[in-house]
Amino acid sequence: MDKLSVIGLGKLGACSAACFASRGFKVIGVDINKDFVDAINSGKAPVYEPRLQELITASKGRLKATQDYEEAIKGSDITFLIVPTPSRQDGHFSDRYLQDALKYLSLALKKTDKKYHLFIITSTVSPGTIDESIIPLIESVSGRKLNKGFGISYNPEFIALGSVISDFLNPDLLLIGESSKAVGDRVEEIYRGVCENRPYVARMSLVSAEITKISLNSYITMKISFANTLANLCEAIPEADIDDITMALGADKRISPYYLKGGLSFGGPCFPRDNRAFAVFAEKYGIDAKLARITDEVNRFQTSHLADLVLKHISGSSASIVSILGLAYKPNTPVIEESSSVKLIEELLKKDIEIIVYDPLAMENAKVYFGDNILYASSVKDCLSHSSVCVVVTQEKEFSAIDKDYFVNDSATVIDCWRILDSSKLGKKVKYISVGKSEK
Ligand SMILES: NC(=O)c1ccc[n+]([C@@H]2O[C@H](COP(=O)([O-])OP(=O)(O)OC[C@H]3O[C@@H](n4cnc5c(N)ncnc54)[C@H](O)[C@@H]3O)[C@@H](O)[C@H]2O)c1
Repeated sequence: MDKLSVIGLGKLGACSAACFASRGFKVIGVDINKDFVDAINSGKAPVYEPRLQELITASKGRLKATQDYEEAIKGSDITFLIVPTPSRQDGHFSDRYLQDALKYLSLALKKTDKKYHLFIITSTVSPGTIDESIIPLIESVSGRKLNKGFGISYNPEFIALGSVISDFLNPDLLLIGESSKAVGDRVEEIYRGVCENRPYVARMSLVSAEITKISLNSYITMKISFANTLANLCEAIPEADIDDITMALGADKRISPYYLKGGLSFGGPCFPRDNRAFAVFAEKYGIDAKLARITDEVNRFQTSHLADLVLKHISGSSASIVSILGLAYKPNTPVIEESSSVKLIEELLKKDIEIIVYDPLAMENAKVYFGDNILYASSVKDCLSHSSVCVVVTQEKEFSAIDKDYFVNDSATVIDCWRILDSSKLGKKVKYISVGKSEK
């Protein structure tokens, strides 16, 4: 069995390392963050993700971590690179962390008498990055030639935070960009031993895989924005029901039901920036990716549309404070990056509205981001007790249990962004508004 190393033990890297180790591979993790290295070595999950702790515990003896790149190169045959690739001002992904890691790894490779090493880039990159900058860097620092002294693959993951491990073990698609057929065969073989399902395997050139990765997310965001536009329409038309419509549309195979619910803007660390990266990549080649640009515009509009809805209901009540339930960009994760909730709160703060928030996992991140500018509740009930206008922003299971007993004020308005509450249980004192449906 191949020995693996994983560079970057963050949200995706720690889960990948744990999945490989739990399936029998010997894995060495490397991170510049010593706390993450120490966590792995003491059998603890460095980040929160469902099932991560369970897999780390089950991998005892097969998973260790270090800050020494030489140890990783010497102790493994294949290295996965899962470091951050933040968006630059111009919308392209920066490969500076990849370059840093690969410089040290290539130097370590130069010092060994190993004949061959395989590098697998999992980080999201702008198309062209591997051919134009990664391969030349490895060749110049290691003194080796591509497909002789080393091989390279681009193998991004299509996972969502909150379900990283189940997505990783049961992917729809295994995307493999390969510098040679032998490289692709080897990557495919690793996943055959790791995946619990039999995913479609798409093998192609490195640049085709780089384009595929951002195209997929750009397409999904376009679909979300279409459903959101439909939801806005339904709000304007009594008797029109967004869920009836999207259920019917999704039954058609050409459309499919996923990411078609109709509601709030998309957010998180991948969708918004992958879509923008698609547009700037196309622009580099003289193509105007209008759909990607408009998708971004529609997405920004969804936030102001929601803020307008909230403001309308504040002005109709005596409320001076708004309760926001849900801060993360989706349930089961503490990540608040570009979340609908964060964008809504920012809009409301501009109008001097007081905000109190609750989220089961994201409170600490919200405190770092908003500081004293908003108030923090200790539970759903606590959050609802402070105001008479409440917005349920995420599809958190806990929120769907809200009934009349949760409200202490004489009257209240609830705006349910994903239609997860049972309005019949809210009693007469609560005015129920759902995004995507007419108020009449
Ligand atoms: N998180 C997701 O949902 C997701 C999904 C698909 C793709 N990706 C891509 O995967 C990559 C990693 O994302 P993430 O969410 O895991 O990021 P993250 O910030 O959670 O983790 C990255 C880790 O890499 C470490 N690191 C940075 N430079 C390093 C170096 N030179 N050597 C060793 N370690 C280093 C950091 O300390 C950090 O622990 C990104 O390119 C991202 O776009 C992420």
